[in-house]
Amino acid sequence: MRVSLICLLILISLSCVTSDVMNGTMKLMMVQALWRHGDRTPTETYHNDKFTENDWIYGGGGWGQLTPIGMRQHMQLGQKLRDRYVNGNPYQFLNKRYDQQEIFVRSTDKNRTLLSAFSNMVGMYGNIDNNNVARPNVDYPDVVGWPTGFVPIPIHTIPDAEDHLLSVDNYCPLQDTVWEMAKTTDIVSSYFNRSDVRALMGNLTNYCGEDINPENLWILYNALKIEKQYYPAKFQNYTPWYSDSLFEQIDIVNSQVQDFQNGLGLEGVVVNGIDLGKYLRKIRGGTLVNDIYNHMNRKTDCSSNNGKECTYTNRMKFFAYSAHDTTLYALFSLLGVAHLAVQPRGYPLYSACAIIEQWQDIQTNQTFFKLIYHRHENDTLNNVITSGIPGCNGNDYCPISVLKNYSDTFKPEMEMNQWCGVNILKGSSSTFSLFSSILILLYLFVNSSK
Ligand SMILES: *[C@@H]1O[C@H](CO)[C@@H](O)[C@H](O)[C@H]1NC(C)=O
Ligand SMILES: *[C@@H]1O[C@H](CO)[C@@H](O)[C@H](O)[C@H]1NC(C)=O
Ligand SMILES: *[C@@H]1O[C@H](CO)[C@@H](O)[C@H](O)[C@H]1NC(C)=O
Ligand SMILES: *[C@@H]1O[C@H](CO)[C@@H](O)[C@H](O)[C@H]1NC(C)=O
Ligand SMILES: *[C@@H]1O[C@H](CO)[C@@H](O)[C@H](O)[C@H]1NC(C)=O
Ligand SMILES: *[C@@H]1O[C@H](CO)[C@@H](O)[C@H](O)[C@H]1NC(C)=O
Ligand SMILES: *[C@@H]1O[C@H](CO)[C@@H](O)[C@H](O)[C@H]1NC(C)=O
Repeated sequence: MRVSLICLLILISLSCVTSDVMNGTMKLMMVQALWRHGDRTPTETYHNDKFTENDWIYGGGGWGQLTPIGMRQHMQLGQKLRDRYVNGNPYQFLNKRYDQQEIFVRSTDKNRTLLSAFSNMVGMYGNIDNNNVARPNVDYPDVVGWPTGFVPIPIHTIPDAEDHLLSVDNYCPLQDTVWEMAKTTDIVSSYFNRSDVRALMGNLTNYCGEDINPENLWILYNALKIEKQYYPAKFQNYTPWYSDSLFEQIDIVNSQVQDFQNGLGLEGVVVNGIDLGKYLRKIRGGTLVNDIYNHMNRKTDCSSNNGKECTYTNRMKFFAYSAHDTTLYALFSLLGVAHLAVQPRGYPLYSACAIIEQWQDIQTNQTFFKLIYHRHENDTLNNVITSGIPGCNGNDYCPISVLKNYSDTFKPEMEMNQWCGVNILKGSSSTFSLFSSILILLYLFVNSSK
């Protein structure tokens, strides 16, 4: 009796590890998650602010650091991901134990995103539920001083200045040029010049002791929001000019400016032959949507190939990107779902997370994707928003060809490090391609004459 029970348990656990995750004829192939870091301290503030950097003691201290609230938010998001993809609610997709061949985590090179990724992995593999499966002296050292059962997970990053995948406000003269062009359009300039917007900027400039304009307004928006959250009494005292209705006006203008910066409201607006809405989307989100699509495309290609070149892809099941509100919003703007980021407006909240699931119909071999959005710390992973994407025809599972179309349409014209340096006004882009064509011809010539 006892033996057969054990056999049964072994059989169940074996089948759990080896069986595919199915929903009808659909098989789960891969999951990609892109999240914003958790609660943080202000990244900077305005001139007259009585709060100083010394007020920000959290997460190592100083500007822009992840706070314990932020760490908790990401640990909990990690637990939700574990629940959905490890514990069988509803999927047993990933190994119960950290398996370096099926998960890859990449963060921007910022303390708060790196620590968010670490905190998230504590939720996923930190053995904080009753599923303690990590093996002492196999997965972690069984010594005094090591947190019991804690398994460290590698978080990858690249130098911030080179990161055009996840750091969308990186140094990029091309983006600056296109944004300057956008500011010359009637749509943007008349908004900036609206009398209520100008009056608001004028008042804020007086309060803050420095020039406040639509473009640096986000700094003020952030500082006020976080100061009020952390030090409500002191905040009232330090900021007598503050009111909730004033803050709402700041929020409205700031959100509108951010929309313009992401190309929203500028679709088909052409200056110097450049479609500003499309270019801003390409520059900010094109690399990311291509990366996400390419992962999926490779997964599909490899699904019927057991060759060596597919070993890595066939084992890989979960990519996570630890990034910023700007990164998520760039992706959402490109996919036409920016209005779903936050209601009624604004950039994604702390620990917001977009999840792209890849499913394959095993009868037709057709590949689909499903977009899920975790809006904030109290949200579930059940909010499917695929149907909001233009082209998905209101379906939860959308054909991969739709994503391919977005990927092709918004693919940057060349490697971002290079494209950012192109002066589109001087048409050096075409000079460049002429130059590179000559180089390629030369190369072919030299090679063929060998
Ligand atoms: C399976 O697909 C159906 C129809 O799209 C969906 O309503 C349901 O939530 C899915 N179930 C799981 C466990 O994925
Ligand atoms: C990260 O933390 C280090 C010190 O631990 C600090 O010098 C640095 O400025 C921080 N970087 C960011 C981007 O917050
Ligand atoms: C801004 O609006 C004022 C009138 O409200 C107008 O005189 C001025 O020319 C406008 N400036 C720009 C740059 O549009
Ligand atoms: C600017 O401040 C003045 C004087 O306090 C006030 O009457 C006005 O309503 C304010 N305007 C805006 C847009 O905040
Ligand atoms: C699906 O792919 C498999 C493996 O490549 C192949 O054997 C099968 O014929 C395909 N089915 C359809 C309907 O294309
Ligand atoms: C989440 O719930 C907590 C507790 O009810 C609340 O204090 C917090 O404001 C909520 N957060 C969001 C983003 O709704
Ligand atoms: C591809 O994308 C373009 C631009 O977003 C759109 O106009 C077109 O309808 C899309 N085509 C398909 C087949 O989805």
